[in-house]
Amino acid sequence: MDQATNLRKLVLENRQVKKTKTIAVTSGKGGVGKSSISVSLAIALARNNVTVTLLDADLGLANVNVILGIIPKYNLYHVIKGKKKLREIVIEVPENIKIIAGASGFHQLANLDVKQRTDFIESVAELDSDDYMIIDTGAGVSQNVLAFVLAADEVIVVTTPEPTAITDAYGIIKSIAAQAPDKSIKLVVNRVQSVAEGKRVAQRVINIAGQFLNVKVENLGFVFDDIAVPKSVRNQKPFFVSYPKSKASVCVSIIAERIINREVENGKATGLPGFFRNLFRSTEKEEEK
Ligand SMILES: Nc1ncnc2c1ncn2[C@@H]1O[C@H](COP(=O)(O)OP(=O)(O)OP(=O)(O)O)[C@@H](O)[C@H]1O
Ligand SMILES: [Mg+2]
Repeated sequence: MDQATNLRKLVLENRQVKKTKTIAVTSGKGGVGKSSISVSLAIALARNNVTVTLLDADLGLANVNVILGIIPKYNLYHVIKGKKKLREIVIEVPENIKIIAGASGFHQLANLDVKQRTDFIESVAELDSDDYMIIDTGAGVSQNVLAFVLAADEVIVVTTPEPTAITDAYGIIKSIAAQAPDKSIKLVVNRVQSVAEGKRVAQRVINIAGQFLNVKVENLGFVFDDIAVPKSVRNQKPFFVSYPKSKASVCVSIIAERIINREVENGKATGLPGFFRNLFRSTEKEEEK
């Protein structure tokens, strides 16, 4: 067993330090790239020695499994109908992440009653076995989407440079802030043509959120508009896997690194990833001696 595996085992046995960081990926406008980014981001995170579950929480138009090219036998429909436990439908995929498939096509599920929703979100919380859980939500301000966003530790709001997407991003930030003023909100600008455009759009959203809502939004980065993304959707293989050197993939790895490093930099190394980084850092120092 190598040193990393040993350390990992040690930490996993020490359950009190275990806490899954949940990150909901959401947007105001639909079709801005949430699912594409969620899938590739989950894989990118997993390349950094952390474990990741990707939950497809878009109860209307689930498509994480489509992007990954798999046909799961069971999905959230079976969980919500009480036929399966959430942990029974977790699938391990070759990309080294676990996924929980959404209930595609069962549109009536998009409007769960309050009890169904609470039961479901509680069962998600019970799945506390990985370092990260990425939750791909539907777009907009429906209570289902907001319930996931509010339950998560952090939220990534995805927008594109289109004015309509920016306006709707502002709208969703406003709804989140109204219900959870302390929620950590990050922004990713997708489909940018240049670094300057990525920065300009992020700054605009951050400024208006600060000025009109008094909400601090953090810029997590941008993803280039890249033909590799739609090509990968058509081939049903995530762009991070099929085009690892593409501009979009490079951007996603930077975002993944930021997510992991930030926890250490903030000194908030409560979750396992930060804990690991600190642990590795101290052993590296010892080896240097
Ligand atoms: N960076 C990008 N470059 C080029 N095309 C992109 C990029 N990101 C997303 N797309 C394209 O945009 C479309 C929508 O992407 P995706 O399904 O990921 O969005 P979504 O926000 O999850 O949509 P929905 O709101 O329906 O869930 C896809 O066809 C995808 O190929
Ligand atoms: Mg989607």
